[in-house]
Amino acid sequence: MLEIENVCAAYGEAAVLDHVSMRVGEGEIVALLGRNGMGKTSLVRSVMGLGSPRVTSGSIRLDGSDLVGLRPNQIAGRRIGYVPQGRRLFASLTVLEHLHMLDRGRPGAWTIRRVFTAFPRLEERKSHRGSQLSGGERQMLAIGRALMTGPRIILMDEPTEGLAPVMVEAVETILSALRSEGMGVLLVEQNLYSALSVADRVCLFETGRVVWEGTPAQLTAQQDLLQRYLGIH
Ligand SMILES: Nc1ncnc2c1ncn2[C@@H]1O[C@H](COP(=O)(O)OP(=O)(O)O)[C@@H](O)[C@H]1O
Ligand SMILES: [Mg+2]
Repeated sequence: MLEIENVCAAYGEAAVLDHVSMRVGEGEIVALLGRNGMGKTSLVRSVMGLGSPRVTSGSIRLDGSDLVGLRPNQIAGRRIGYVPQGRRLFASLTVLEHLHMLDRGRPGAWTIRRVFTAFPRLEERKSHRGSQLSGGERQMLAIGRALMTGPRIILMDEPTEGLAPVMVEAVETILSALRSEGMGVLLVEQNLYSALSVADRVCLFETGRVVWEGTPAQLTAQQDLLQRYLGIH
C-alpha cells in the first residue's frame, strides 16, 4: 500500500528527514514514535505533499504510483486521509457544518451518522461552533472529517494528544475497526501505551531517521530502547 523509500526532506537548507524508509500495508496499523522535534510531523507532511518540508530525494508510493511532486489535493484524491496535529477547524462553523461540507456519499466513506455513532459527544454538540469545542471534541471532529473523505489509508498525527482516557479508548476502538475493514493507518503517537496497544508494528524515530522497527511485544521487551529513544524509564 504505502511505501516510503529513502526519503530525504529539508526546510530550506536544513535537513529534517534522512533516508527514511517505511511501509504501511492494507489492514495494518504502524505507529511512529519518537521524542518531540524528531521529524514525525515532517514525515507525515512529506507524504501529504504539503511542500514544507520539501522532499529532496527518495520515493513515496501508494500502490506503486509515486506521490512525490503531486499537489496536496491530488494526493488526497488518491484516498489518503490526514488528521493533522493540532486539529485545525473553522472557528465560526458548527460541528454539523464541518461534517456536511464533506458529505458527498463517496464509496466507503463514513457518513455523518457513523461519525455520530462513533463519537456520541459530537452529536450532542452538533450546533456548537469550532471555537466552542474542547480539545477532545475538536480531535473527534478532525478524525470524523478525515474518515468522511473515504480514505483507504489514514495518517494521524498525535490523535490522542490532550484527550481524556475514555476518549483515547474511543480512538483506539475506531482504529481497530478501521484495520479490520482493511484500512492502513500511519499513527504518530506520544502516548506510548496507546500506540503499543493498537499497533501491529512500531518504528522509532530519531533526528529524522528510523532507528528501530519491530512489534509492540519486541519493543516492550527492550526497556533500553524505550529509555534511549522515548525518554521513558
Ligand atoms: N516550518 C518549519 N521550518 C523549519 N524547521 C521546522 C519547521 N517545522 C519543523 N521544523 C523543525 O524540524 C524538526 C522536526 O520537527 P517535527 O517534524 O515537527 O517533529 P515532531 O513531529 O517529531 O515533533 C524540528 O527540529 C523542528 O524545529
Ligand atoms: Mg509533531
